Amino acid sequence: MRNAMGNNTGFKVGLFGANLSSARTATIVPDRWSADWKDCLEMARIADEGGIDFLLPVGRWKGYGGATDFHGTSLETITWAAGLLAVTKRVTVFGTVHAPLFHPLIAAKQMVTADQIGQGRFALNIVAGWNEGEFEMFGIPQREHDERYVYAEEWLEVMMRAWTEPEPFDVEARYFKLRQVSGKPKPFGGTRPLIMNAGSSGVGQTFAMRNCDAFFTSMSGSRIVQSGGYLTDQQADLLDLTARRVVEIKAEATALGRQIEVYTQGQIICRPTRKEAEDYYHWANVENAEWPAIERMLELHGMTRANTPADVYEAKRMTMALSGLGGRPYVGDPDMVANDLARLANAGLRGIAFSFVNFVKDAPYFCAEVLPRLQRMGLRG
Ligand SMILES: Cc1cc2nc3c(=O)[nH]c(=O)nc-3n(C[C@H](O)[C@H](O)[C@H](O)COP(=O)(O)O)c2cc1C
Repeated sequence: MRNAMGNNTGFKVGLFGANLSSARTATIVPDRWSADWKDCLEMARIADEGGIDFLLPVGRWKGYGGATDFHGTSLETITWAAGLLAVTKRVTVFGTVHAPLFHPLIAAKQMVTADQIGQGRFALNIVAGWNEGEFEMFGIPQREHDERYVYAEEWLEVMMRAWTEPEPFDVEARYFKLRQVSGKPKPFGGTRPLIMNAGSSGVGQTFAMRNCDAFFTSMSGSRIVQSGGYLTDQQADLLDLTARRVVEIKAEATALGRQIEVYTQGQIICRPTRKEAEDYYHWANVENAEWPAIERMLELHGMTRANTPADVYEAKRMTMALSGLGGRPYVGDPDMVANDLARLANAGLRGIAFSFVNFVKDAPYFCAEVLPRLQRMGLRG
């Protein structure tokens, strides 16, 4: 078996965004995540020993502003993964790679190196890119949306061949014309790293189904957000929708002759009582929201105060703050959080990548209280 992430049994849990300052919560609270290397090391130790399955960093190159310059401090993901793989024993660590910004052969070599360091525990999140400001920073024009995935598919093919082909080979593709490509060593142990993608457009999803082992989908949770950030029986219909979506995605993949596992993302705030969790959630996500950064993110998606009715803009801004940037909040005591995650598992999802406001402070309680509950429910091996 390559690693715990690749065995496709049980509900997998991963920490999301720990390489970024403030991770996935646009907040100014003093507890917010620093992403300092020392804190990352401690986070990885807690995750490795506590039963977390994977660490998923975000490929981000510049911040969104505000007093804290949200995401302004970020550690590059493959080197971050390599460092963490060297000091851990069982957790899988992803690198998140923007295909248009890395040559596929350099990326292939970096990832093989990380995979050798981790002895088969590296995994890849391939990203086609969307953030115009980041591409301007590199002086690289973004391709038209759907073309980004044509490019990413060629990129992935080059990378995969470098990982697998024993003899030197030539590439004669639209974007790559390469001669006598050689790549040694190969990934660890005669297998290859798991590959995932998180496109949300039709083209992005098709790309994932054709090329990836795992697909991360973001479930819109605005109704859940409005009810205080946790699932209730009345909202089971949303889970039904999700379950149907998972079945559809898997069926579409099967039609392409492929198997794909579906994951989602979110934010977890788990405290001994529901009230403590909800109070902290409101304090961090709303009362101390990093509003200028949230507004900048909306602007990057084409929404400004000038082009949007005031009530619509305000609602969107609030949803963004409450949802931890478009994921879904799971807020409550350990029973509530475990039950919500169990519902996701029962809806057919293979796992979830989630953030905490502060990984070092929040992960130990989650590992001690929520993971054993999932185990008792038979959802984890
Ligand atoms: C779980 C998850 C992780 C993602 N990670 C990144 C990332 O690290 N860097 C990035 O630029 N975009 C990231 N994205 C954005 C997606 O790659 C993609 O650009 C976005 O969902 C838009 O989809 P589309 O390309 O199909 O339009 C992520 C999305 C999700 C749901």
